[in-house]
Amino acid sequence: MTTHLRFDVQLNPQARSAAEREQVLASPGFGQVFTDHMVSIDWTEGEGWHDAKLQPYGPLVLDPATSVFHYAQELFEGLKAYRQPNGSIVAFRPYANAARFNRSALRMAMPELPEEAFVESLELLVQTDRDWVPTAEGHSLYLRPFMIATQPALGVNHPSRSYKYMVIASPAASYFTGGLKPVSVWLSTEYTRAAPGGTGFAKCGGNYAAAFVAQRQAVEEGCDQVVWLDAFEHRWVEEMGGMNLFFVFGDRLVTPALTGTLLPGITRDSILSLAAELGYTAEEGKISIEEWQAGCESGELTEVFACGTAAVVTPVGSVKGVDRSWTVGDGTPGPVTMKIREELVGIQYGSRPDAHHWIHKIC
Ligand code: PLP
Ligand code: COI
Repeated sequence: MTTHLRFDVQLNPQARSAAEREQVLASPGFGQVFTDHMVSIDWTEGEGWHDAKLQPYGPLVLDPATSVFHYAQELFEGLKAYRQPNGSIVAFRPYANAARFNRSALRMAMPELPEEAFVESLELLVQTDRDWVPTAEGHSLYLRPFMIATQPALGVNHPSRSYKYMVIASPAASYFTGGLKPVSVWLSTEYTRAAPGGTGFAKCGGNYAAAFVAQRQAVEEGCDQVVWLDAFEHRWVEEMGGMNLFFVFGDRLVTPALTGTLLPGITRDSILSLAAELGYTAEEGKISIEEWQAGCESGELTEVFACGTAAVVTPVGSVKGVDRSWTVGDGTPGPVTMKIREELVGIQYGSRPDAHHWIHKIC
């Protein structure tokens, strides 16, 4: 594998003006507006990774037979760059995203990218578009590395023989509109996200394509988000649309164990460490929807929250399924959820000490 890639840099002659950028940054939404540049690196069989470049953000031209359009051989990552109090910019655990990118790549029969090249590609894009990193509280620059199969061929006897890796970036406000309001969730017993041996642990687009119908059903049922259950009994809680889940029993936190069918969230992993340091016990386990309901009804299960890069830490306020519905706690954000959120956000935005060296300075 090539480990020393040299990026060719082509700056955007039509980069937006400071005034245009400020207008976007005043209300960035999530994943709607992109910065002035993007990074790409190509891979071909025999040659490996080559043609690394930073160039103006813009459309791709691809043959209609390109294999990603037909067989969805694709994967992506998601992480954020945060503005620090002194104006510098950092990323949160980018090497953890690099490692997950490569685990997804192995599952999708795609080439691994050296972790250094992954992190270097993020650094180059963020340094170039640094003025796009918001300064407003709680805002950040969302980074979206991804890889697509680019061979124009319809055969399915072997994976694509060429790939394109890219990174794009988008200023982001809160993922959920309306601030830190607890979300309502729909238990999906009709659809399955992932089964053993499948792609649940990989961050591949197909997992999300198959999830839209259930997310739409959740909204039709009056809920914000879908909760995925296991494939066999539709009873054991796995995760949410784009987030992992934590269950709070007083000062004991439980999150579904990584069985291969759920995404190993980097936020989840960070919270497992932080919770222990904040004086809670934090463990990976198994939780059924019956235990979830009974725990809330008895008062033993005091809080539930979701976590992820986009969603940060978001309380779950109510639960609905085909034949049941209940409230978590009193339906408002609980103290454990808020304490964990403040600690995590404090590390990311540089107001709390970074004991784990999770913060990676970019510029
Ligand atoms: N689960 C799913 C399905 C996701 O898409 C995400 C988001 O990336 C997560 C969990 C949380 O992962 P992370 O904390 O690494 O963002
Ligand atoms: C993320 O949190 O990075 C995600 O990927 C969630 C969603 C936008 C897919």
